[in-house]
Amino acid sequence: MLDGKAALVTGAGRGIGRGIALALAQAGAKVVVNDLGTSLSGEGAEPLPADQVVDEILTTGGTAEVNRGNVASFDDATQMVEQVVRVFGRIDILVNVAGILRDRMIFNMTEAEWDAVIAVHLKGTFNCTRAASPHMRQQQSGRIISMSSVAALGSAGQPNYAAAKAGILGLTWSTANALAKYGVTVNAIMPSGATRMVDSTPRGRRVFEETGKWPTELAVGTERDPDNVAPLVVYLASDAAANVNGQVFHSYGYGYTLFEQPHAARSIRAQQRWDPEELARVFPKTLPAPTLGVEHRRRLSLLAVTLRSLSGLRALHHGSARVSAARSVYLLQRRR
Ligand SMILES: NC(=O)c1ccc[n+]([C@@H]2O[C@H](COP(=O)([O-])OP(=O)(O)OC[C@H]3O[C@@H](n4cnc5c(N)ncnc54)[C@H](O)[C@@H]3O)[C@@H](O)[C@H]2O)c1
Repeated sequence: MLDGKAALVTGAGRGIGRGIALALAQAGAKVVVNDLGTSLSGEGAEPLPADQVVDEILTTGGTAEVNRGNVASFDDATQMVEQVVRVFGRIDILVNVAGILRDRMIFNMTEAEWDAVIAVHLKGTFNCTRAASPHMRQQQSGRIISMSSVAALGSAGQPNYAAAKAGILGLTWSTANALAKYGVTVNAIMPSGATRMVDSTPRGRRVFEETGKWPTELAVGTERDPDNVAPLVVYLASDAAANVNGQVFHSYGYGYTLFEQPHAARSIRAQQRWDPEELARVFPKTLPAPTLGVEHRRRLSLLAVTLRSLSGLRALHHGSARVSAARSVYLLQRRR
């Protein structure tokens, strides 16, 4: 599906990024495998993860090059894109995967914890996208796919991560609108899979206490295998997905869910500026917004229902069929 295409995958030494790099190579792409080799919290650097993935691709007959740069550095990100262009002659595919976690409640979070997570996820995605976009614009073709997270919907213990992942959605929509006329598509995925990120959670530790194995060890070949995200990336990176732009997908198990674009729910209008007392009187009847906690739980339970009823690669949609802001037309199947 991707014969002759040149790709950069960041954070490709482990977890979801590793599966994506291997799948792109298997589909015929030449891949620059970037990974800084950091701890989960973004400390230290080791060459092994990226080197191992390059070796895996080479031993199966693919083409790959290593890059050990830091996506949070504008210069490193520019150099990794330039490496793809220098070695493979062009850059067709950019997949932004690199990520770290520094979870803390908002009232305990330090400035350093905020800055580090924003730097890797949000600025890192900007850095690589910024570097790749002039090449793609000139080529009049390209694919940019970035990892967001369902945490963007409001994960309570991850204010830095939730903000960064929601920021990636805004960046995706902006870039999709800006680059559509140059034949470049830009989409986001909220992935999932049992990686070390999941091992580090209280649920991951509970699984270890109960079974003697970490979720990463139990996941191989199952619905929780992080490699299940990769087929969607290969498709979005291919010519077949030329009209899929500015979209957000959730990947869970063997299912992929298309998210609805945010849209206005209700509005009220007056002939002149609102008086706050009057607003307080009409508000509960006209804009009865449930508190975020309730709305958030409702959305997550809708998501769970969707995921349970999901079979194969089918676009699902809660509500009326829509055409996205980015002008891509999707055939949506209504379920509910
Ligand atoms: N695992 C999940 O369930 C899940 C859920 C939602 C979103 N995500 C997102 O998917 C992506 C991959 O997550 P994962 O679970 O595979 O994590 P992981 O920790 O297994 O892999 C992330 C990789 O990124 C690399 N990395 C970190 N900082 C880097 C930097 N500054 N420059 C270059 N490389 C860097 C790490 O060395 C690591 O190999 C992340 O963006 C994560 O936020 C994962």
